Amino acid sequence: MKNILVTGGAGYIGSHVIVRLHEEGYNAIILDDFSNSNKSVLKGLHKITGKDFRVYEGDILDISLFEKIFHENQIEGVIHFAAKKAVGESVDNPLLYYKNNVTGLITLLESMTENKIKNLVFSSSCTVYGQPDSLPVTEDSPIRPANSPYGNTKQIGEEMIEDTVKSGAFLRSIALRYFNPIGAHPSGEIGELPLGIPNNLVPFITQTAAGLRDSLTVFGQDYNTQDGTCIRDYIHVMDLADAHVQCLKYLENINNPNHFDFMNIGTGTGSTVLDAISSFENQSGKKLNYQLGPRRPGDVEKIYAQVDKSVELLNWRTQFTLDDAMRDAWNWQKKLSSI
Ligand code: NAD
Ligand code: WQD
Repeated sequence: MKNILVTGGAGYIGSHVIVRLHEEGYNAIILDDFSNSNKSVLKGLHKITGKDFRVYEGDILDISLFEKIFHENQIEGVIHFAAKKAVGESVDNPLLYYKNNVTGLITLLESMTENKIKNLVFSSSCTVYGQPDSLPVTEDSPIRPANSPYGNTKQIGEEMIEDTVKSGAFLRSIALRYFNPIGAHPSGEIGELPLGIPNNLVPFITQTAAGLRDSLTVFGQDYNTQDGTCIRDYIHVMDLADAHVQCLKYLENINNPNHFDFMNIGTGTGSTVLDAISSFENQSGKKLNYQLGPRRPGDVEKIYAQVDKSVELLNWRTQFTLDDAMRDAWNWQKKLSSI
């Protein structure tokens, strides 16, 4: 059984990837400092898989921890999720983001190349495109100057990996540029656990419906879209998780010892904020308390992916719809709130 190290494996996306890795016959090993996750996720993973995964609790900035993991386990590949991800917080505290996301990746790359660990899947983001000139956005679209330190850490991360590969290090890596991950495992045993007031749309919707928030404000009603609200490409976290496993298999089959590439992971379909609310209302059977409000600074008007590259190279495609994702997000919220 191949050992795969999953940094940030206790987090939202990482935990769903652990399940898919297990289903596909990999042995997932978690490294997490639990700075943005809760140990209860390990119980959820056990309920779904019947397995207790090996967990290294610690910081990706600690190179001795990577050395320990690589010496104690024969690691075939790494999926690197561990990062801070709150755009607003990164504007207020940029150095925290550069330290965690950039220095953390340097630490990982140093240790991987030193220990000859060949395969790396990196969590990047559609944020690297900013507002693209044409849609759907392809991988050929230009990278725009980042509009937050968080976004910049993803651009720098991709560049650092590419330069490391170009330098001749035996490293094969793909940066997956995720669009908007939403939803939860259909069992309701794992899902997104935002700390404090959620920044993202779907946790805000489900917390409002659960009575934890009074109402949702839709940010902007005068965008150049069919209903005036922003358009995003919402992808079910289970589909996103599957893309990681297919990506790992793809890397394992590349003969060239040096390889770097990047690809979009989305559904290819754009939905407005009002589409998302309507889907939630249909799936939950609940009327959401929301009002239309002013734009949120920094939001792009519309973005959705062209996914031809990942569909072709990874032999992957999405299985879940926006409605599925809303059903599963609500199922997860109901369990959390004991509704
Ligand atoms: P998350 O916060 O739920 O998971 C990240 C995990 O990494 C958490 O469990 C956290 O405790 C851990 N972590 C953070 N810093 C660490 C450190 N220094 N050492 C060890 N562990 C650390 O986030 P997520 O939504 O699962 O995102 C995973 C990755 O995907 C991140 O790199 C994020 O930037 C990227 N991404 C997320 C989204 C999204 O909307 N969720 C979109 C695009 C890209
Ligand atoms: C989605 C839509 C909001 C909350 C962020 C990061 C991006 C990436 C994904 C990591 C937008 C609207 C939201 C609310 C609303 N993360 N909205 N009311 O902004 O597309 O992307 O997460 O890489 O980098 O920026 O996601 O979920 O915050 O917003 O109307 O209370 O919902 O304006 O149109 P976003 P989001």
